[in-house]
Amino acid sequence: MTDFRRRVAAAYDAETFRREAHRLVDTLAGYLAQAERGEGPVLPWAAPAVNVDRFAAAFPEEPSGDFADLIARVLSGSNHLHHPRYAGHQVTAPVPLAALCDAVSSLLNNGMAVYEMGPVSTAMERNVLRWMAARLGMPETTDGVLTSGGSAGNLTALLAARQAKAGYDAWNEGAHAGPPLTVLVPKSAHYSISRATRIMGWGEGGVTPVSVDERFRLRPEALDIALKTATLAGRKVIAVVASAGSTATGAFDPLEPVADFCERHDLWFHVDGAHGASAALSPTYRHLVRGIDRADSVVWDAHKGLLMPALVTAVLFRDGSRSFEAFAQEASYLFHGDAERPWSDVALRTLECTKEMMALKVYACLSVLGTRLFSDAVTESYDQARRFAKRLTAAGDFEVATQPDCNILCFRHTPAHVPPEEWDALQARLRERLVTRGDFYLVQTKLPKGVYLRVTLINPLTTDADLDAMMEALRTAARR
Ligand SMILES: Cc1ncc(COP(=O)(O)O)c(C=O)c1O
Repeated sequence: MTDFRRRVAAAYDAETFRREAHRLVDTLAGYLAQAERGEGPVLPWAAPAVNVDRFAAAFPEEPSGDFADLIARVLSGSNHLHHPRYAGHQVTAPVPLAALCDAVSSLLNNGMAVYEMGPVSTAMERNVLRWMAARLGMPETTDGVLTSGGSAGNLTALLAARQAKAGYDAWNEGAHAGPPLTVLVPKSAHYSISRATRIMGWGEGGVTPVSVDERFRLRPEALDIALKTATLAGRKVIAVVASAGSTATGAFDPLEPVADFCERHDLWFHVDGAHGASAALSPTYRHLVRGIDRADSVVWDAHKGLLMPALVTAVLFRDGSRSFEAFAQEASYLFHGDAERPWSDVALRTLECTKEMMALKVYACLSVLGTRLFSDAVTESYDQARRFAKRLTAAGDFEVATQPDCNILCFRHTPAHVPPEEWDALQARLRERLVTRGDFYLVQTKLPKGVYLRVTLINPLTTDADLDAMMEALRTAARR
């Protein structure tokens, strides 16, 4: 046996794998239990340079065998999303079963680009997408893809919108082969929309802002003005984007009037439901996405509202054939029989060529855990945000930016001993203190009235008592 063969045999040895895997699962289960009990800091804060040193690229030439040590250091240095006091960005505490699915996906490495490279995950992907489309009330003509995140999803949808509505073949002839384009977008939309239009070569004017009301929801009556403004600026409007759950405040735009407007003006209607399309699962909050079934395209992140680890984003097209128009690439070494464009070669329709078996975790968790957990998680988290908003308002020394639509809530501490002109600086200081001490993980955002603290109640392990403790911790920090 050559030296290389011996190394390969050791690296791929099934028994070594079994041993490491058993040990790892025990370690992860211990970690999970500890995080769920709320032991230790949420985020063990360390400056970036410190972690760069801790995880230096000092790779040995020969096997070191210290996998367990390395993983222990990874676990202790990371942000603990299963800690009940994690309430920060829109990244969920994933159901642990999903993590096991990721291990399966990594080991099988079925790269999905063409059916043969992922026969099971391709079939699962189709059925997961159909399940999601049905939850939104979209018609049976709906089809789509899973992709790597809401940003990639929004780009995918807008590429298809361009092919459908530009009036020229921008994909083949280029962005300058016809009039400059734009989409009407509420001011509260996620930055990935304007990033997508810039990627498509439309520059700054590729997005025409639509004003929002005092609850940060798109004002439907402002659409006409935006359309006129864009036209006067020499732009052809091809689409309207609405947010079903905006990022900063979780505002749901009124979808029905936007759908009517799009119908009247023959525009593509895209709903960025990355955060909030999951509301459709909740009988109590389904009304927030009324009209989503009329969208030409919808983006829905399972890693936000469906308790999945990153990344799993569904891009759904009401007319499934449109999903082939986002990326119309020829690649004879990969795709055969291009005349019929088989749905099962998913890379024909995704930004990715190779991608992980994204559908597996969604499919497995829905199959094994049942759908009720997921719909209840939406209802509970949206209820919890409403209860928290009530307690904050009643307290007198806190102020909410707006009543929450979903599980995102912006608020600020306004103690009497701090003058209003110092409130912005105070929020930033309070957040820094709570986060760097590891007591809580929450974020902040700037709204027209100033700087606000922001929580996303996306971890089902967070209780009302944790949120009360957050209020107390903020008060204590403000008194310092
Ligand atoms: C409304 C909205 N759209 C899109 C995105 C981008 O999603 P991702 O982080 O999965 O790329 C986000 C992320 O927070 C979001 O809130």
